[in-house]
Amino acid sequence: ARVVALVSGSGTNLQALLDAIAEQGAAAYGAEIVAVGADRDGIAGLERAERAGLPVYVCRVKDHADRAAWDLALTEATAAYEPDLVVSAGFMKILGKEFLARFGGRTVNTHPALLPSFPGAHGVRDALAYGAKVTGCTVHFVDDGVDTGPVIAQGVVEVRDEDDESALHERIKEVERSLLVDVVGRLARNGYRTEGRKVVIP
Ligand code: GRF
Repeated sequence: ARVVALVSGSGTNLQALLDAIAEQGAAAYGAEIVAVGADRDGIAGLERAERAGLPVYVCRVKDHADRAAWDLALTEATAAYEPDLVVSAGFMKILGKEFLARFGGRTVNTHPALLPSFPGAHGVRDALAYGAKVTGCTVHFVDDGVDTGPVIAQGVVEVRDEDDESALHERIKEVERSLLVDVVGRLARNGYRTEGRKVVIP
């Protein structure tokens, strides 16, 4: 499968995918990253892509007349790489109508909480503030809501009394990276079916 990854930050999830592909080989893993897109420049995620010799593209909201024009530009820039699967790996923008019309059902996102608890940009902080004793990460399909799409897989992380947001997020990210590598490979190799909202990878 051809995979385009979208990033906004440090790109450690992207790196985990790149490392798995390098170790296992694209054929055995079932997927290759063909390009990396971002909504901003100057991020480590793009440097990682460039270091891996991958084409990158940047689509900034502020370079477009409005959100709809940005959505269209991101959709077209992504479509140019003909992905079978899009992975939003720490991409901090809501994907728009055009994007989902084209790539819905094959765009996955990773979120640092156990959805449907603590959706949105501060999943780790919100779980801590709530006093949750366990949290984790969720890999899910992207739909038109904020972190509301069908769940594909989840990983659990215990909250420690001494945790702050960054310590907890780091432990979640360790689980998140291996979960994402596992899910993307299995989706690429086996596809999936749904039973209502339930996603089953055969
Ligand atoms: C991940 O925890 C992701 O779920 C969240 O931001 C983090 C991105 O990390 N939205 P990285 O850029 O892959 O290192």
